[in-house]
Amino acid sequence: MIPAPRRLALNLRIIVTAGPTRERIDPVRFISNDSTGVMGFEIAEAAKRRGHEVVLISGPTPGPRPKKIRTILVESARQMERAVSRGFKRADAVIMAAAVCDWRPANTARSKIKREKSRAAGRSLKLVENPDILAGLGKKKGRKVLVGFAMETERLVSNAEKKLREKNLDIIVANKVGAKRAIFGPGRTDVVIVDKKKNKQHLTNVSKRRVAEAIIDKIERLC
Ligand code: CTP
Repeated sequence: MIPAPRRLALNLRIIVTAGPTRERIDPVRFISNDSTGVMGFEIAEAAKRRGHEVVLISGPTPGPRPKKIRTILVESARQMERAVSRGFKRADAVIMAAAVCDWRPANTARSKIKREKSRAAGRSLKLVENPDILAGLGKKKGRKVLVGFAMETERLVSNAEKKLREKNLDIIVANKVGAKRAIFGPGRTDVVIVDKKKNKQHLTNVSKRRVAEAIIDKIERLC
C-alpha cells in the first residue's frame, strides 16, 4: 500500500536529475549506460504531488517523461552540471538520481569516424574524466539537503556510506547491481536508504514510487 500524500505547509524547491548522460564520440556514436530515468521521474512526481516546486533535469531516456513537471533536457554530464548549477542557489534540496558517466571521449569528432581511417590510425578511444556533479554541490552545500544514489556490485552499505561522507550528502540511496531485481527500468527494486546518522531504511521488493515517497519523506523531515 502506498501511503496517502501528507498535506504540507512547507513548499520546498527541489531539483531532481534523472536518466543517463551521453558522451559523444562522433555524430552517431556515444558512451552511455542503461539508465531509463524511471527512478528520477518517480521522485519528481512524488515531490510534485506533495506540493513542492520541482525542476527535473533529464538526460536522454527511452520512455515517456512526466508531463506536468518543468523539465530541462540535457545530453552530457557537463550540460547536466551547468543546468544543476544554474538552479542550485534557489534550491532547498537536490536529488541526483541520474546515472552520470564518469568519463567522456577526449575529443568529439564533427563528422562520422570512418572505419578505414580509424583502422589505419590503430584507433583507440582516449577518455578524460567528467566532473563529479554531486561532489561539487557537496562543497558548497550550506543548509541544502543533498541526496545521492550509489550503484554498487559489492559491499553495498559501506561503499554507499563512503560516498555519503566523501560527497558531503545528507542521504544516500544504495542500489545493488546484479541483485535479484533489475535496478534500471520500471520494475520493483531493493534499496537501502542511509542517512548521515547511519540510520538505515531497507526497502525490499518495492515499487520505485514507494522508494520515491520514502526519499521525499526524509527530505521533508530534514528541511
Ligand atoms: N554522480 C555525479 N557525477 C558523476 C558521477 C556520479 O553527480 N560524475 C552522482 C550520481 O548521480 C549519484 C552519485 O554521484 O547520485 C553516485 O554515483 P555512482 O555512479 O554510484 O558513483 P561514482 O561517484 O561515480 O563512483 P564509482 O563509479 O566509483 O562507484
